[in-house]
Amino acid sequence: MSNDQLQTLQTKTPEEGFELAVKLSQHGVEVTQTSEEIRQMLRPVYARNADSLIAVSQVIAIHFQTIAAANNYWTV
Ligand code: HEM
Repeated sequence: MSNDQLQTLQTKTPEEGFELAVKLSQHGVEVTQTSEEIRQMLRPVYARNADSLIAVSQVIAIHFQTIAAANNYWTV
């Protein structure tokens, strides 16, 4: 997980917007669970659970909606 500070919601492409949505989602987890050790311990659990993966996808999708809106849906 990255510790980069968020500077802008502007991205060049939808793909970059999606990457930002993933980063924001992971950042939320880092803020709520600050122990790297505990996150490492929990990773194999959620990574093998279908419902957890669906929940992860939903969090990413919610961030992606915000980012898409901030980029005017990448229309010129
Ligand atoms: C790895 C996404 C929640 C712990 C990853 C990866 C992705 C990802 C895409 C693989 C790529 C990478 O290492 O950056 C997410 C998203 C989450 C989420 C979108 C929630 C919305 C969590 C939670 C934990 C966690 C709840 C544990 C508390 C980790 C750890 C790794 C990892 C420790 C690194 C695994 C490694 O080094 O192989 N996560 N994750 N993540 N995630 Fe998550």
